[in-house]
Amino acid sequence: MTQVRLAPLCGVTDHVFREICQEQGCSQGYTEMVSAMGYLCAPNQRATQDLMTRGAGEKKLYIQLFGRDPDTVAEAAKRMEELGRFDGIDLNMGCPAHKIAPSGEGCGLMRTPDIAEEMMRKTVQAVSLPVSVKMRLGWDTEHINVVEMAHRAECAGVREITIHGRTREQQYSGEANWDYIQQAAESVSIPVWGNGDIFTPEQAISRAKTPGIAGVMIGRGAMGNPWIFRDIQALDAGQEIQPVSLEERLGLIRIHYDRMLAWKPEHIAVREMRKHIGWYLHGLRGASRARAEINRAERPNQVWEILSRLQREIESQEE
Ligand SMILES: Cc1cc2nc3c(=O)[nH]c(=O)nc-3n(C[C@H](O)[C@H](O)[C@H](O)COP(=O)(O)O)c2cc1C
Repeated sequence: MTQVRLAPLCGVTDHVFREICQEQGCSQGYTEMVSAMGYLCAPNQRATQDLMTRGAGEKKLYIQLFGRDPDTVAEAAKRMEELGRFDGIDLNMGCPAHKIAPSGEGCGLMRTPDIAEEMMRKTVQAVSLPVSVKMRLGWDTEHINVVEMAHRAECAGVREITIHGRTREQQYSGEANWDYIQQAAESVSIPVWGNGDIFTPEQAISRAKTPGIAGVMIGRGAMGNPWIFRDIQALDAGQEIQPVSLEERLGLIRIHYDRMLAWKPEHIAVREMRKHIGWYLHGLRGASRARAEINRAERPNQVWEILSRLQREIESQEE
């Protein structure tokens, strides 16, 4: 069986979407990254609490923390454990963002391996939950140190590692390099999960066969396509992939929407659902017009009307 997890994606993988992916067969999710310092300074802040929400149906959830200072991150991890809400702590050593990496957080930690190792060790010592780390290949092509970092993680007591096969400098350009992922995976004995550029179930199954790796993590390939997890299971079982019908697609948009409305105030839910609907509709005939209208709609009812019209248009073209 192919082991597959959903990647943490800021602004996308909130508890509603993670739950939908787990309903489609994804085995584990991660919260969007949470600032260790932000949490310690203002633990009750609404935005942070939203990030830390666990859906009732979520089977397995790691909280992902980011920060620069080992003691701060370890302390935040301890508090997270005390909440009794998470199955593990994941440390972010991959974020390339301009506000994060240059100041030594996220992927910036790969430039300071001693601090990164201290952070991993202190976090492992602070909690009894499993601690994992998500990293990239290194800062840039001249400084690829993923193998060294994987060793340091193992020595620090980290239980598993996820590697996104790009450098910080690459951001999301070029292609993920799975040779380095394999190299790192084969050089440590803790599980290593591979990540980067999996957009189809076939790619997931083929990448999961990379020697040494425990499984794969999917990020952008799940946006608007949580069915990818179900499709991977179908292929594993030797079944044919069933194309997602229009009815099913619109039905899931409705479920997603209703759950968002149950969680957030209407005007926020309407705004946040726009991008998801855009991804769900990707590739459908007439989708670009519908998307533009949905981006202007202020009320859920208007969105339903636009989607119903789109459905009628597509169905009449098929007749
Ligand atoms: C919109 C977006 C938000 C992301 N947010 C996070 C995050 O909060 N934490 C993290 O470790 N990685 C984050 N990532 C990186 C992804 O988890 C993943 O490593 C990357 O997208 C490569 O995998 P993919 O090719 O399957 O998308 C983000 C990526 C994207 C595109």
